[in-house]
Amino acid sequence: MKKNYVFIETYGCQMNTADTEVILGILKNQGYEVAETAEQADVVLLNTCSIRENAEQRIYGRLGNLKTLKNAKPNLVLGILGCMAERLRADLVEDKKVVDLVVGPDEYRRLPEYIDTAFSGAKGIGVRLSKTETYDDIIPYREDGLQAWISVMRGCDKFCSFCVVPFTRGRERSRSLSSIIDEIKLLSDRGFREITLLGQNVNSYQDANYNFADLTRASALVDPMMRIRFSTSHPQDLSRELLETIAEYDNICKYIHLPFQSGSNRILELMNRTYTIEKYLSILDEARSIMPNVSFSTDIISGFPTETWEDHLATINVLQKVQFDGAYMFKYSAREGTKAFKMPDDVPEDVKGKRLQEIIDIQHQISYERNQELVGKTEIILVEGRSKKSAEFFSGRTDSNKMVIFPKNENAAEGDYASVIINRASAATLFGDFVQTVTKRNVTSAALGLVKK
Ligand code: 5AD
Ligand code: SF4
Repeated sequence: MKKNYVFIETYGCQMNTADTEVILGILKNQGYEVAETAEQADVVLLNTCSIRENAEQRIYGRLGNLKTLKNAKPNLVLGILGCMAERLRADLVEDKKVVDLVVGPDEYRRLPEYIDTAFSGAKGIGVRLSKTETYDDIIPYREDGLQAWISVMRGCDKFCSFCVVPFTRGRERSRSLSSIIDEIKLLSDRGFREITLLGQNVNSYQDANYNFADLTRASALVDPMMRIRFSTSHPQDLSRELLETIAEYDNICKYIHLPFQSGSNRILELMNRTYTIEKYLSILDEARSIMPNVSFSTDIISGFPTETWEDHLATINVLQKVQFDGAYMFKYSAREGTKAFKMPDDVPEDVKGKRLQEIIDIQHQISYERNQELVGKTEIILVEGRSKKSAEFFSGRTDSNKMVIFPKNENAAEGDYASVIINRASAATLFGDFVQTVTKRNVTSAALGLVKK
């Protein structure tokens, strides 16, 4: 029988990247092969993102190109998956008629059926959200590599007033700890060296009596040579137990992505973020008191409804106070269905843009200065392979997720941990010289045996 080839393009966050691997796992089980390009495929799927308007605009643009491909190849099945599915199904399937199937994040198990429906000439629509679906038993399809993303919980119950995620991805639910640990073991056996535990709000992970600290601890114990990262944390749920767990294990990266969104308490309240900026800063102090070398990154939204110049200055003030290692910075974008959508989007576009640029410039300078402080110091990195720009150089990342470039050395290979002495730095990259490979990372002896019964 002729095999069908599928091609998936993934947009948006790492959760979507992880979902694409689950989807390919499901389709491979049904005999599909993975195509290298859209042109070679029988089924082209876009795994979409709705978080900001420009993400959706990009996808509409791409659909325009694919329409040309479909005209040339009428049997091609074209589908929309992910966060745009629920919101835009009428628009995509009924009005624009370009798309043959629309399947939301909780209906991927039935994707093969929807594709069959589409092959037979009808439209397939599956956009129901589930309270329980975690794809626990699906083995995601992953190419060999060093880094893997594992989604440990789905959905979000926080309902930040600007955010569409609780509507597009539904309620919070967690995968079982045992299935996650089994997956990490498999990845360790395949030579993976770094995993990122993913969720919209990983700190509210809960599997029976196990919380997120238990999960990170159990993950760290699988393989001391495997680095553990996690993302994203909400300040409300970041527990002391988790901070102590991160501190305790060498192989859990001392790096926390903790969005603060705005430095103004009035705006934080309108955003329904459930903390004050003083509380946020006290969490960072607590983390630093436990781990003096911990790094932070954050998310910021500029130009939320009613944001004044003073509110904006309060955000800048937090940037200067905290000295984040990195920040993802966005212009506010009103999303239909959210609480903020009903507020006046009253910060003019050019003011939003100017404020955002100012935030970006300040953070750029801070990143540059933070990186200069590392010159002369030795960092341990995971060697990821040749650098993008030159085959003569290797690149890798520090625990704090900073890119390091160093001249190739015969004693260092892809997948090794290496210590590198930093001799130069820009805002985005560190440059250094190889010192030696690191063949042993300790899981602290105190930590062994600490997995909760
Ligand atoms: N407009 C702008 N940025 C947003 N984010 C989420 N929703 C919006 C929106 N409507 C940002 C937040 C969040 C990150 C993933 O995306 O900063 O932390
Ligand atoms: Fe959206 Fe807030 Fe949930 Fe993050 S915590 S996904 S910003 S609702």
